[in-house]
Amino acid sequence: PRDQVSYTFHYYLHARFNGPLPMSAPQPVRLEDYRPPAYHVEQARLRIDLSGETARVDARLELRRNPAAAPEDTALRLDAEFLELEALHLDGEALDPAALRAADGALVIPDPGARCRVETTSRFRPAENTALSGLYRSGRMYCTQCEAEGFRRITPYPDRPDVLAPFTTTLIADRTACPVLLSNGDCIEAGALDEQRHYAVWHDPYPKPAYLFAVVAGDLSCQEERFTTASGREVALRFYTEPGNAGRTEHALASLKRAMRWDEQQYGLEYDLDTYMVVAVGDFNMGAMENKGLNVFNTQFVLASPDTATDADYEGVEAVIGHEYFHNWTGNRVTCRDWFQLSLKEGLTVFREHQFAEAMGSAAIERIRQVRLLRSAQFPEDAGPMAHPVQPKSYVEINNFYTATVYAKGAEVIRMYRTLLGDTPFRRGVRRYLERHDGEAATIDDFLACMEEASGADLQQFSRWYHQAGTPQVTVRDEYDPEREVYTLHCRQHTPATPEQPRKAPMHIPLAVGLLGPDGAPLPVQLAGEPADEAAHTRVLELREAEERFEIAGCPQRPTPSLLRGFSAPVAVEYPYSDDDLAFLLARDPDPFARWEAGQQLAVRVLLAEAAGEPRPGGLERLEAAFRGALEAPGADPALTAEVLTLPSETYLAEQLEVVDPQAIHDARAGLRRALGQALTAHWQALCEQHPGRPWRHSAEEAAQRRLANLALSYLVAGSPRHLDRALQQLERSDNLTDRLAALAVLADSEAPQAERAIEAFHQRWRDEPLVVDKWFRVQATASRPDALEQVERLTRHPDFTLDNPNRARALLGAFAQGNPACFHSPDGRGYRLLADHVLALDARNPQLAARLLGPLSHWRRYEPQRRTAMREQLERILAQPALSKDVHEVASRSLE
Ligand code: ARG
Ligand code: ZN
Repeated sequence: PRDQVSYTFHYYLHARFNGPLPMSAPQPVRLEDYRPPAYHVEQARLRIDLSGETARVDARLELRRNPAAAPEDTALRLDAEFLELEALHLDGEALDPAALRAADGALVIPDPGARCRVETTSRFRPAENTALSGLYRSGRMYCTQCEAEGFRRITPYPDRPDVLAPFTTTLIADRTACPVLLSNGDCIEAGALDEQRHYAVWHDPYPKPAYLFAVVAGDLSCQEERFTTASGREVALRFYTEPGNAGRTEHALASLKRAMRWDEQQYGLEYDLDTYMVVAVGDFNMGAMENKGLNVFNTQFVLASPDTATDADYEGVEAVIGHEYFHNWTGNRVTCRDWFQLSLKEGLTVFREHQFAEAMGSAAIERIRQVRLLRSAQFPEDAGPMAHPVQPKSYVEINNFYTATVYAKGAEVIRMYRTLLGDTPFRRGVRRYLERHDGEAATIDDFLACMEEASGADLQQFSRWYHQAGTPQVTVRDEYDPEREVYTLHCRQHTPATPEQPRKAPMHIPLAVGLLGPDGAPLPVQLAGEPADEAAHTRVLELREAEERFEIAGCPQRPTPSLLRGFSAPVAVEYPYSDDDLAFLLARDPDPFARWEAGQQLAVRVLLAEAAGEPRPGGLERLEAAFRGALEAPGADPALTAEVLTLPSETYLAEQLEVVDPQAIHDARAGLRRALGQALTAHWQALCEQHPGRPWRHSAEEAAQRRLANLALSYLVAGSPRHLDRALQQLERSDNLTDRLAALAVLADSEAPQAERAIEAFHQRWRDEPLVVDKWFRVQATASRPDALEQVERLTRHPDFTLDNPNRARALLGAFAQGNPACFHSPDGRGYRLLADHVLALDARNPQLAARLLGPLSHWRRYEPQRRTAMREQLERILAQPALSKDVHEVASRSLE
């Protein structure tokens, strides 16, 4: 009976917040089952009244049968969830909504005729919308998140991206609580309703899918600036925040202007409305959302001040501001036909965001960071139970497919078009795609067809990048014929099996190759049989077969190959480099990415050998010499030096192993850091002293110097705790969060009492700044100290910890599970239990977030037996719960398959 009670209660919570529960295993949605919508919406008029605890939404939809729909598809389906339906009228006649409700909550009207008008009235309580999908309260404001399927939690609607409509929205709210009322498009009317309430009417002329709809209401401060587009349109840029955050939008505004200008210059794309609004929201499941004309942002990606944001945060703000802005074309003007096409907008927009970042800062450094992220997040995903192609073929919960594969690998696919076709044909293809499909919902095939037309290339084999999951492995061998002066590269490719895809066909892989002579001079790469003037120092070889070879002519001496320059494809390359080769490439390769890569590979070798208990003879000395070389290189770029001196992450190291022992990896890495800290003390000390010292300002050069100085500080303290004082002083004296946080991270690793006092004092000082408190949690969650797990357990009971704020939950639990492998994978399984407990607690309130936090457990098969068993037990325990969300159910069940 007790179980019964809790089950019923659980069920109640679920039905209340998230719609009906899947009673058996939830059914997947399949790409192959796509059918055009039965109805188009010609006009959507909404009236949203937020003046009471209960929101009331009146909707009037003008609908027309879709001539392209199958003749038997005559039913009109209006998705609905989380709503109490009060009234339903079809062409003015009342219908009983309860009688038309399908099992999943949708309203299904059998055959409403070729044209019809549907009016609905529904109600819900925003304050109880803890899933943060649909319309909800965050602090004292109201906001929305409709992608992917949140609009159905506001009003019954054909909530699918291929139904596009112009929206007219009337917002009503209390005048004092919510003086600001916003929606998409332009405000066409506003005024008082009575003593207490006022209203505003917004009209968005661009037909859009419901996932791009937004409203915001609250007492908000606004920073406004103007932007004149290339063709002379005046645009008002308005950034809204809660009053406490006023004055922190300067950097985001400047970033937006740079993004607008860049998109005009690079792609000839201009903004198309009179206002562009951005609202900062403290409770948000993702980073930000590109709603037409009214972006909603997680505060983390829009607010920036020296006391509350690090250099990395400043860069993050610029990137995400750019990303959401670029969506206005790649996503909004041309949207997706269905959610299987998600990478059509996300892969392309991430690529545009990357190009923008490369143009604003250092291209090489940006590229290194992109690759780090791809390798630490996407490669593991592609090798695990959740592996899926860039275009997935089925899903249970679409929110689980906003993944590193769809985003980051999707962006690599777009980059490969450019690498293979050339920049000009590539841009011509993008233009053609946007012109042909403007105002439409398109597919990945449409995009590929435009690229083929614009370049004349055949991209059929290339399209496998969208359909085959898994990271291709490219194995390269070489031989040299001194007589003919021909150097031959033999390339083999193999893509490992992934769930549901046991066999793979060969991929079309651009492999950028350079050659270095014995003295380090770059040699021309001239394919045998082609005229000499085609020779280039970096040559893109096009791999198409499982095995093939490339002959390079005119090599008077055996060269050293520099492979996958600039990371020309999302693959793993294997070539039998000697340690000497790697040290040589690190010192001499003209391609900065390849230099960094050689250094990383050298470190990987030393670390993996150490972790396996078979230290590589002379490995440490060689790495020390390589580091010394990087530290002493005249005129080196400090940003690149910092990247070179950063050891590969524990996650990336684990990725190289069949069976993972996270503690062994951690110990190897910590040991190497200690050794390098000691061996190069004088260098680290000198770097710490070179710190800019001037008052903080946001600039790439100074950020690179700070990064290097803070890296030096961490090596120093790793080498000897007697340098802790330096960190304490830095924490005291710095005028910016970057340096404070770097000092704090060093202190958090230490068990010394003065370090613990400093951590406490930091909290006291910054407790009223949520984004800083997030960092305070994160630093402790990722601390390299043996009792970090106990610390995290304790922090889950801290008064400032809450599962209701996604940033906070991610800062403690997400950071711990992903960023502290040694402690999360405590062999007794306590880390896993801690995570599972919180996933279950969260699932009834915010299933999207719960499913994300669960992710790290899905890789259980890779770990040594004791941990593997303990991880699986937690997944099974989760799956045994009666009232799981689709989100968590899908991740747990796929992980165990
Ligand atoms: N389209 C957003 C972006 O810019 C992401 C929104 C995802 N939201 C979600 N609930 N799945 O990347
Ligand atoms: Zn996006």
